[in-house]
Amino acid sequence: GDYTGPLRPQVHYSPPQGFMNDPNGMFVDADGTWHIYYQYNPTGVVAGNQHWGHATSKDLYHWVNQPIALFPPEERVYVFSGSAVVDVNNTSGFFPDQDNGVVAIFTLARYYEDGSGGPQTQNIAYSRDGGYTFEYYAANPVIDSTSPQFRDPKVIWYEDHWVAVVAYSQEFVVGIFTSPDLKTWEFASNFTRHGLLGAQYECPNLVKMPVRDADGAVLGETYVMAVSIQPGAPLGGSVTEYFLGDFNGTHFTPSDAVTRLTDFAKDNYAAQFFYGVPDGQNQVNLGWASNWQYTQKVPTGNLEGWRSAMTAPRVNYITEAPRIGLVMVDEIYDISPILDSKLKTSTCGGGDGTVALDYSSVESGALYIEVNVTNINTTLLTDYSTLNISFASPASGEILQSGFYFGGDTPFFVNRGGIKGFDNVFFTDKFSVSDVYSSGSSDTLASWSVKAVIDRSIFEVFVDRGIHAGTVVFYPSQPLTTLNLASRLPEGARVSVDIWSLKSAWA
Ligand code: FRU
Repeated sequence: GDYTGPLRPQVHYSPPQGFMNDPNGMFVDADGTWHIYYQYNPTGVVAGNQHWGHATSKDLYHWVNQPIALFPPEERVYVFSGSAVVDVNNTSGFFPDQDNGVVAIFTLARYYEDGSGGPQTQNIAYSRDGGYTFEYYAANPVIDSTSPQFRDPKVIWYEDHWVAVVAYSQEFVVGIFTSPDLKTWEFASNFTRHGLLGAQYECPNLVKMPVRDADGAVLGETYVMAVSIQPGAPLGGSVTEYFLGDFNGTHFTPSDAVTRLTDFAKDNYAAQFFYGVPDGQNQVNLGWASNWQYTQKVPTGNLEGWRSAMTAPRVNYITEAPRIGLVMVDEIYDISPILDSKLKTSTCGGGDGTVALDYSSVESGALYIEVNVTNINTTLLTDYSTLNISFASPASGEILQSGFYFGGDTPFFVNRGGIKGFDNVFFTDKFSVSDVYSSGSSDTLASWSVKAVIDRSIFEVFVDRGIHAGTVVFYPSQPLTTLNLASRLPEGARVSVDIWSLKSAWA
């Protein structure tokens, strides 16, 4: 692949060429190699002809493209989304002499000659070389069906058996199945019509996570049931929601009636949690950084021959946010492997402050930014209190804006409306969160934090330790090369800013 195009992310995964959508089959092996597979059309820049592409990484930033792992088994039968597990104890019998056998479980989607959809069934393939090459199981499918809307199995291990969650997409049902050996599956229960329905449920995930207090101490653990809905997200197109609850090996019982969204913007869909992260630890996920509303039209296809990147990897646990209760944290995964040089450190005290940076000499065009604002006297905040972080192209006048804004009820926002390289009615300009959760020591003295990555055509922000995360793709006609930070905050507030250039993971 050619990763030099001006819109090509340098620290995010994107396919060598062609069209990518959902992450699939993600697992980490015993040597610490992370594997991602993904919905892949290697021969076009629109969705279709689904294969499983494959890439591996030691740090979740530097990826090695591997040969395609799963090919369509017959004409007009495509390999849709699914997951993978390491069958350490050879429950499947595929791996008599090894403990690193990998089993992939995925949907095969049949289409008829007239283009209409036939049955979607769940199938497996096994790999004796640690996930690089796979053989289809001879007795597929392992979960048969006549439904044209039954897909995206995600498998986990529960105490003494395997568990698969599979979407009956247009019935708004997550089916839960159990198996001793990954080959024979028994229906266990349904999780039906929860949260936002959209028009379909897709890519369910079930995962256990620690619950932590604000200092990180473990208070307990809980299960997360994530469901991707598409179309019909509140902001249009696709989004992922999740529910917290208990799982007893066969049934998921939500602990409340709350629907939570994983992202406050529009470009994070179908995220999957890696299999193989040890029990009791924070989980790790990454999602598809796009939206079905416009993904097949974005300009990278015509200009550079590829479409879609993955989000940055995220670390996940549950924490309690003031007023709204338990939420999933999306923190950016350890970024140190790609940190380059510190371009700026600045501390301004209170009142008005500005930081300006020309980063046109940063070859990757990618930056990592941390902003911490402390000692904010909330009784002095006004409609004019702001902290703006913007990125611009002096050549074209394009601008990407983000920041805290108190003139209204949307304390943190991102605005891609000033970027001109892509015009589409669904390519919404502005995203915001309804509240920010200060970690201040009193009711009146607040602090805010933001971590952000900008990477040529993708911007990701993690607000308040990742309680709010936003993924925003943008397509400038000229590279963005300047950063401006401006604050207008109450007396006494302290703003600290650290900006690093990032090394290209693809150079
Ligand atoms: C979600 C999805 C899945 C399906 C795959 C096909 O984006 O529609 O439900 O398996 O994409 O590429």
